[in-house]
Amino acid sequence: MERTCRNTELSIKDIGKEVTLVGWVSKKRNLGSIVFIDLRDRSGIIQIVLDGSFIAPDVRNEYVLQVKGVVRERAAKNPKMSTGDIEVLASEINVVNTAKTTPLIIADETDALEDTRLKYRYLDLRRPCMQRYFDIRDQIKITTHQYLHEHQFIEIETPMLGASSPEGAKEYLVPSRLHHGCFYALPQSPQMFKQLLMVGGFERYYQIARCFRDEDLRADRQPDFTQIDIETSFLSQDQFLEMMEGLIHEIFMNTIGYDVKLPLRQMTYKEAMDRFGSDKPDTRFGLELHDLKDIFKDTTFEAYKAAEAIKGIKVDNIADKTSRKVIDALTLEAKKFGLGGLAIIKMENDELTGSFVKFLQEGEKASLIKEFDLKNNDILIISAGAYNRVSPLLGSLRNKYAKELNLIKDGTFDLLWIVDFPMFERDIENGQIVATHHPFTRPKDEDLHYLDEDVTKTLSYAYDIVINGYEAGGGTLRIYDQAIQKKIFDILGLSDEEIEEKFGYFIEALKYGTPPHGGMAFGLDRLTMILGGTDNIRDVIAFPKNLSGVCPMSGAPTPVTQGQIDDLGIFFKEEK
Ligand code: AMO
Repeated sequence: MERTCRNTELSIKDIGKEVTLVGWVSKKRNLGSIVFIDLRDRSGIIQIVLDGSFIAPDVRNEYVLQVKGVVRERAAKNPKMSTGDIEVLASEINVVNTAKTTPLIIADETDALEDTRLKYRYLDLRRPCMQRYFDIRDQIKITTHQYLHEHQFIEIETPMLGASSPEGAKEYLVPSRLHHGCFYALPQSPQMFKQLLMVGGFERYYQIARCFRDEDLRADRQPDFTQIDIETSFLSQDQFLEMMEGLIHEIFMNTIGYDVKLPLRQMTYKEAMDRFGSDKPDTRFGLELHDLKDIFKDTTFEAYKAAEAIKGIKVDNIADKTSRKVIDALTLEAKKFGLGGLAIIKMENDELTGSFVKFLQEGEKASLIKEFDLKNNDILIISAGAYNRVSPLLGSLRNKYAKELNLIKDGTFDLLWIVDFPMFERDIENGQIVATHHPFTRPKDEDLHYLDEDVTKTLSYAYDIVINGYEAGGGTLRIYDQAIQKKIFDILGLSDEEIEEKFGYFIEALKYGTPPHGGMAFGLDRLTMILGGTDNIRDVIAFPKNLSGVCPMSGAPTPVTQGQIDDLGIFFKEEK
């Protein structure tokens, strides 16, 4: 189709030029003797003018047009538009295609419900803000390819149809037509394959990898998502992190022109949990957790005597807004974290008030005021109980208050590494030992002895990159010693048969000169969200699922024909 240029390639320099443009009608204003059309193409919008000498065809929003005309200077300029100094006086307009009235407004500001946006995603994607997200996403990928190739990486694809693996619970399974009763599993990540590529001698691998996880969805999670997946051989943790920081620096620079200051801060997991109650702390604001065990060492309050942790946060100047209703909501929140409740103390007229104050001794009151530097109208939230319930609760309240009180400045970025994760943790519900990351994570050399003693004390070579309170990526150095690998499987309670069945080939590979190796994966979708400034992961995925895991456009997941089911040798039990 004839077209001389894209809309926003034109500027004041082009006045007098004859042009042919194509695009969609974004807006039409008919002033009688003169008609204005905002014509939108991939590059942006330009104003088309049809004056009285011209019979305007019937043109409506989202019609596809080809416009011929001459560029001229605008009488009334629009500084908000990149083409705001000029317009095109049309001499010919061809309606290339018509359009139904769209079910959503195609502009940055749209009041459409998200399910409508997802049902008509192809229209939603025409909105300029959406196009910008995909430009950012694309630029992250281009930068990744460039940077990693400059650093001797090779891109290799790994299978989508694989074998079911250890973290089985979250897998999507694909029934095999040729082998009834057997299933492929879609990869939660290419973890084992990339390690085998290190055994395969590639030394530096990456892949923009599609991953699949059947887990509860949230604002920052999708069932199918994309990782920038990376693995390297022969690097220490610090060497590897430095290389990854270089990549992040380039990504920020090339997408939004932001100069990330390197090296990034490193904070241990313990410090993050102690101070921020989260392994993905947003450190752009204060509201830090204080350890109050010491203040309450002689407490007479029964529930506090035996508590493993007693911690508190102060929120400034909010006591007058902390009504009974707010307190009830906070208590409910504590219950969600498996805690009986929490204590809310107000500072009013130079005194601590609230139903909990009667349990405090004078010395404790004075210590709390000093510890938090409490001023009138501040509140203090104290939680006591198991450490791994108390800290996350206060961490979550910290984030809630930061949002409510607008404590985070727009356009600021906070990047840090969280390091020294525990190798294992106890499942909070059933007390079972589980791997914090995955079972191939290497325990720290100096902690190997804990594997025979108290395994929960073992720290690992594991690191997450946290940006603005999101876990944007994470990884570990890997075990390359078969004896240690076997020991870890044993600790996780895997029997020899299970190990053989699930990882036999992997353990075998470790016996053939496996290099020391390690890597990480960045969440491409999360990086795009952060750089694009949205808190909804669905905004940066072209055809996402909604929070129920459904694609409102295609209807996936859908029933299939009985014939297809029969071919797969599958029988459904009668639902009771
Ligand atoms: P991990 O499970 O931490 O590590 O995942 C790496 C990164 O992927 C992103 N991510 C997600 N993004 C969107 N939706 C999801 N459901 C989702 N789950 C994870 C996060 C996360 O930091 N194989 C290891 C990496 C390694 O050790 O090399 C892995 O997958 O940003």
